[in-house]
Amino acid sequence: MANKRELLLQLREEAKLGGGLDRIASQHKKGKLTARERIHFFLDEGSFEEIGSMVMHRSADFGMEKQKVLGDGVVTGYGTVNGRLVYVFSQDFTVFGGSLSETHAEKICKVMDLAMKNGAPIIGLNDSGGARIQEGVVSLGGYADIFYRNTLASGVIPQISAIMGPCAGGAVYSPAITDYIMMVENTSYMFVTGPNVVKTVTHEEVSSEDLGGASVHSAKSGVAHLTAANEIEGIAKLKKLLSYIPQNCEEKAPDLTYTPADETRMALVDIIPESANQPYDIRDVINEVADEASFFEVHKDFAENIVVGFARLAGKSIGIVANQPAFLAGVLDIKSSQKAARFVRFCDCFNIPLLVFEDVPGFLPGTDQEWNAIITNGAKLLYAFCEATVPRITVITRKAYGGAYDVMNSKHIGADMNFAWPSAEIAVMGAKGAAEIIFKRHIDLAEDKDAALVAKEKEYADLFANPYRAAERGFVDEVILPEETRTKLIKAFKMLETKVVNLPRKKHGNIPL
Ligand code: HXC
Repeated sequence: MANKRELLLQLREEAKLGGGLDRIASQHKKGKLTARERIHFFLDEGSFEEIGSMVMHRSADFGMEKQKVLGDGVVTGYGTVNGRLVYVFSQDFTVFGGSLSETHAEKICKVMDLAMKNGAPIIGLNDSGGARIQEGVVSLGGYADIFYRNTLASGVIPQISAIMGPCAGGAVYSPAITDYIMMVENTSYMFVTGPNVVKTVTHEEVSSEDLGGASVHSAKSGVAHLTAANEIEGIAKLKKLLSYIPQNCEEKAPDLTYTPADETRMALVDIIPESANQPYDIRDVINEVADEASFFEVHKDFAENIVVGFARLAGKSIGIVANQPAFLAGVLDIKSSQKAARFVRFCDCFNIPLLVFEDVPGFLPGTDQEWNAIITNGAKLLYAFCEATVPRITVITRKAYGGAYDVMNSKHIGADMNFAWPSAEIAVMGAKGAAEIIFKRHIDLAEDKDAALVAKEKEYADLFANPYRAAERGFVDEVILPEETRTKLIKAFKMLETKVVNLPRKKHGNIPL
């Protein structure tokens, strides 16, 4: 018996070494942690329980039968983050570059299945060269097994991907289906085909960083929602993200304790500039309204004309979507519509109430936008709001013009409460543009055309550049003072806590993709 016990203990030690000490040292030299170290920093101390540490691949081609490593390049199991259950897989780059074999995929599928059955998030710590080249189609099949599970789990349990090394080929498609992707700067890459293949096929010379580094995917492609300077910072961000979201689609996000206090926020009074054309940073509004230091922005560097993220209001988790007047005047365009639509749908999947701050001059005009389908893409955001059944509140801080008024969580598309500040302007378009069109003849005939335009502009502005026409109709529920905003929102979200809306029965909708 003593020998049998020793054998197990020896195998356990062996499994911990993955591809061996040299490869671990090389991983550290690159500024990367090992698969096990990542799990250690991610989970609550002592909470990790491993599953499948003795699994080995079954391949016998290319001498693979002589190269078997316990665990086969991925550490899988479960544990807790801030006391809440999560399932995790962490790819081990020291074993065949973290590449995905048939058995490696089976291990990931096993924890995904457990996560689904038990209603808890699954977090993938990815560091993989893609399909295990020596295995051929069984490896591709393994990827497809994961993609299928990712899709079935979408909207049921939160799925989060951390990219912590080069992720190529199939290794990027599972993260792409998950809800959030975090990338580590300078040590992680995502691409379908790497620089060498790109050079062969298109003759483009491009570095891994320029092709698929963290800055590319956070700012240009929008594939990544979060970035971090190093792995430890990235892991901290994953934990923070988890704190705002529930375990599954049947639950609500956990509340923080909150002691009611004076909720008046006088600092909100001076944020909107006198001139309607002056920018301001909508984050100043968000930070004043939300619980102190609770705003956690995601997708920050992509489509900066819209701001999305999580926050707490009186201790409760909410999702915030806000036009950003400080960037492109807060206009809606293709990328901002895509960004906000995905965020709205995530919050709706997971019962996170939505708060919208609106200051939008309309949709961005131009051939670039039209040719690249602003029609289809703008409709994504419209559709996402229309079908969201979570509590939804809008605060119009300034402009609510044109189609963007409808899209940005208007009452007409199912918002529960719409507030407007006295600075709100709710109209088909800005006063100058409107006057130029509807009073064109009058202005053309006038002796002093400039004065005529100014007079008509004022006439239009007096009539529509305010919240009261919308309030008369009930399209705005209440016009409120900026300093009252936090109080009004806390009460309104509390009032909406028992909201139930049932959408028409259907297989699923057909969002314009
Ligand atoms: C088997 C692999 C591997 C793979 C890397 N290795 N990728 N083994 N299958 N896919 C092994 C290497 O042979 C090496 O072994 C070790 O991992 C480390 O790799 P290096 O190349 O030395 O590391 P590095 O220079 O950091 O480069 C990492 C890399 C590169 C960028 C990931 O290895 C690479 O380009 N790999 C191939 C990527 C790829 O084309 N994958 C297949 C995609 S097709 P030794 O023993 O020397 O240490 C795919 C299809 C799925 O995934 C599609 C589904 C939709």
